[in-house]
Amino acid sequence: MCGIIGYIGNDEKKSILINGLRELEYRGYDSAGICVLENGELRNFKAVGKLVNLERKCEDFFFNGFGLGIGHTRWATHGKPTEVNAHPHFGHFSNVVHNGIIENYQSIKERLQTQGRTFLSQTDTEVIVHLFESHLETSTSVLEAFSQTIAELKGAYAILLITQKSPNTIYYAKNGSPLIIGKGEDKLGKEAIYFASSDAPLIGLANEVCYLEDGAVGACEVGGFHMLPKIKPLSGDKLSAQKDGFTFFMEKEIYEQHKVLLETMMGRVSEDSFSLEELNGLDFSEVESITLCACGTSYHAAIAGSYLLERIAKLKTKVEIASEFRYREPILRQKELFVVISQSGETADTLEALKLAKKAGLKTLGICNVDNSSIVRQSDFGLLTRAGIEKGVASTKAFATQVMVLWILANFIAQKCGILGKSEIQQQTKTMLEAVRTTKVDKKAHEHIKRLSRRYLHGHGFFFIGRDIFYPLALEGALKLKEISYLHAEGYPSGEMKHGPIALADSRLFCVALMPQNLLYDKIKSNVEELSARDATLCALSAEYYEGCDDWIKIPHTSHYMVEFFSMMVVLQIFALEVAVRLGNDVDMPRNLAKSVTVE
Ligand code: G6P
Repeated sequence: MCGIIGYIGNDEKKSILINGLRELEYRGYDSAGICVLENGELRNFKAVGKLVNLERKCEDFFFNGFGLGIGHTRWATHGKPTEVNAHPHFGHFSNVVHNGIIENYQSIKERLQTQGRTFLSQTDTEVIVHLFESHLETSTSVLEAFSQTIAELKGAYAILLITQKSPNTIYYAKNGSPLIIGKGEDKLGKEAIYFASSDAPLIGLANEVCYLEDGAVGACEVGGFHMLPKIKPLSGDKLSAQKDGFTFFMEKEIYEQHKVLLETMMGRVSEDSFSLEELNGLDFSEVESITLCACGTSYHAAIAGSYLLERIAKLKTKVEIASEFRYREPILRQKELFVVISQSGETADTLEALKLAKKAGLKTLGICNVDNSSIVRQSDFGLLTRAGIEKGVASTKAFATQVMVLWILANFIAQKCGILGKSEIQQQTKTMLEAVRTTKVDKKAHEHIKRLSRRYLHGHGFFFIGRDIFYPLALEGALKLKEISYLHAEGYPSGEMKHGPIALADSRLFCVALMPQNLLYDKIKSNVEELSARDATLCALSAEYYEGCDDWIKIPHTSHYMVEFFSMMVVLQIFALEVAVRLGNDVDMPRNLAKSVTVE
């Protein structure tokens, strides 16, 4: 959600900024802009829609000399996605980009307006640049004026500001939204400084980075990078972030699940034991219950995890939606382990929930895909999911690895507490490997789902149904479809159908039924029959043919429900993808959605 980029150096500014923004596209946006300070002149370009529109706007503009620039992709919060509302916002001699929300912008705006300052946009961001220019009238230095400005802001922000008054410097501030400063070399072999909202645009350009902490306010110019705190090397492989011949990142990410799941297991699962070194120092005899807290897809992984933790580790587990948890004055008990799950590690609601639990004195664990993200840094313990960069807004491999980490965690606790004997552990590890193998996409099976998807474009809605751990998978199947096809889809526990939702059943209701052979098959079969009797169009996912269905997607035979879980997960992802492709949607960047939601 919103992406920020900044650059100081000798390389061509426009392409550095736009290429950087392209790497941040996966976060979601609806307009974009850049500003370059060229020989004392500020050149500002903005456009609504995708980056190609911005590129068209500045196709004749190049700037190769020493200088600086900032860029931004905006996901509208205050004010419509128009060109005027796009960032950078400008005053008389400065430009600013911002990610987050300035909560007290209205009062600042009114005050500045009474001083005669004119506002062009409806955004909260524009106040920053006017406030800065107003402070500069009385300050002794640019940095002082910038710091005074930041001190007045309430809310979440990552900010970059450039000004004609200080042409070699980018001013930055961070609170609640991510911001990284990196150092590399430009084509003259001289130091170049980069700013970005995540690692992705920096890979291949910067070799050292500083992940700014909340409260950071400062100025950076060439030669000044080494003064930043906690500088780390940046490694990473640009190739892994490319599409590898697939049309969509989402498809590529579905196809690489069998590989990344093995990464997730590496060093943690061996033939006859589970080990999680990252949790050294966490005393499980002190843990009486677990709370799992997350948003979106990560929330679905959390629900799946709760079944595993209770069933395998025998630990009472509850699941919370982070945005709800924050404001309902939850009762927190000291012997509760508080686990947050997040792909990005930057989701504002999840991060705030984590802070709340920490403040209440609970031990916290972050399960996350991004090392050094805010959630990883702020949790007492961290478990990385190791899915690699996920670019598709609709999460796939990140979900798979989250479930895997939770499954490993449940087994690890059970082993530690003596609940599982050696042979049971061996059985679990064997099952895990089988589950991973089953996520390797079979091209023929993919083709079958692709053909079948054409029959699922014009109903009045979808129900995805499942029982037990297949219920959160049903929720996730429905979410995937909704996110990228814009069709109405709901996930339900199949036993709930009769308590209301079945009223919607008719031949134009599509029902995707998750029917594992190894978990409550007969129960779900009865629920599916109730729908079939009411003429719903049924697509069954199961190993055995079910005669009441209209379509059958065959799942491989196995003796464990978790293997069925992972095979069905892949089917649901491909199903959503193919329906969305047929509808002509932008699968990787669905409308209105953002990959990393850093506002509440
Ligand atoms: C956004 C994304 C979802 C994601 C959710 C939680 O809404 O569009 O795909 O599941 O945030 O994100 P997190 O990074 O915390 O897992």
